[in-house]
Amino acid sequence: MSKTICLLVLTVAALAVAAKFPKWHELEGYTFEQYIADHNKVYSAEELLARKAAFENRLATVRAHNANPGFSWKRGINHMSDWTHEEKNSMKGYDKNIGHAMRTKRAKVVSNVPNKQEDSENATLPQYVDWRDLGVVTPVKDQGQCGSCWTFATAETAESHYAIATGHLGELSEQHVLDCVPNPLQCGGQGGCSGGTVELAYSNLLLPGTGGMVSEWTYPYRSYFGDAFQCSFNRSRTAVFANITGYVTLPTNKYKPLMIAVATLGPIAISVDASAWHDYESGVFNGCNQTNPDIDHAVQLVGYGTDEKLGDYWLVRNSWGPKWGEKGYIRIYRSDSEEGRCGEDITPRDGEGCADGPPQVEVCGTCGILFDSVYPTVSK
Ligand SMILES: *[C@@H]1O[C@H](CO)[C@@H](O)[C@H](O)[C@H]1NC(C)=O
Ligand SMILES: *[C@@H]1O[C@H](CO)[C@@H](O)[C@H](O)[C@H]1NC(C)=O
Ligand SMILES: *[C@@H]1O[C@H](CO)[C@@H](O)[C@H](O)[C@H]1NC(C)=O
Ligand SMILES: *[C@@H]1O[C@H](CO)[C@@H](O)[C@H](O)[C@H]1NC(C)=O
Repeated sequence: MSKTICLLVLTVAALAVAAKFPKWHELEGYTFEQYIADHNKVYSAEELLARKAAFENRLATVRAHNANPGFSWKRGINHMSDWTHEEKNSMKGYDKNIGHAMRTKRAKVVSNVPNKQEDSENATLPQYVDWRDLGVVTPVKDQGQCGSCWTFATAETAESHYAIATGHLGELSEQHVLDCVPNPLQCGGQGGCSGGTVELAYSNLLLPGTGGMVSEWTYPYRSYFGDAFQCSFNRSRTAVFANITGYVTLPTNKYKPLMIAVATLGPIAISVDASAWHDYESGVFNGCNQTNPDIDHAVQLVGYGTDEKLGDYWLVRNSWGPKWGEKGYIRIYRSDSEEGRCGEDITPRDGEGCADGPPQVEVCGTCGILFDSVYPTVSK
């Protein structure tokens, strides 16, 4: 069974490498037939019609957007361009209710590292930060069709903080977090693929809980197609690669603390509304619904900067593979008045089934970027 899954993953990965992604200016006359050939997609006659309709709709939207010079970002065609709404939703996985419950318990969070924010309140921040330049960020990953974004943001951010502390950059296991972090509030379904939060993960990875993070090669990712697996971690057999000693949750909906943290401490796990990101190709994105942002995704903030033509941006790493966006990254519009850019997240649907019911929450920043930010502390 696991061999079959492995082969499938390899096949898909090989196809993805061969697939062409036409650039936004190459879409004149681009057809569905060309698209399925470029992406090696095979559909039954029945499905073909629905996919073709979805693709043509998307292509029209993409071309209309790109024809408007007023936008600071381009839309493109990628492997998701003929997907249904449900298929796109399966690629996220942030559970608001768990996040809410964790935040209300924030006072109990332990951390061995003092929060330096107050000391540096008036510090001058650099104009440009990109932690990739310091060699503490692993290559872009692909969560596949599993709502495991929260495990990716957890692992990626621990990788970076461990590398900053020790000089050793290694890939940490998402599958370990996915399989072994319990969801005591029973929110949003049964499996790790149906969502969680970074706080939930770190709080369970502290000793004596699940017990540290193991490397990717001792516990590899295999939920690419959304399958759930039993926890198979055995501490007496698998060495922990990085011990998590605590985690820090930044003040919600605040701009300066997030800027200071990403400038001085390292990459930060953040939550966002990614529902309008699927066809992002390049540029500084500003296409989120700011009235009612729907926080549904966890990603990694790795820096910020200013584009000469397009203005200030946050630099964000996604987990939808290196061919999405700008080599797997997205630049998101940033301004120092982000704190005043607030909306209400009103979709209680996410995480339904929690005992304490769905909260309606105020969410600030472009795509809700200031809402829920976390980083781990690690031991050397
Ligand atoms: C930061 O600057 C403000 C205004 O100059 C000052 O009141 C405050 O004490 C400073 N904070 C710190 C931690 O130095
Ligand atoms: C964990 O591994 C040890 C050593 O191989 C073994 O003795 C023990 O039974 C394992 N525990 C579980 C729960 O599988
Ligand atoms: C993690 O913590 C355990 C228990 O304190 C310790 O035995 C182990 O050596 C630590 N591992 C690393 C990689 O720091
Ligand atoms: C934002 O989302 C809300 C709730 O789904 C919707 O009613 C509204 O029309 C959306 N606004 C825009 C500009 O898309």
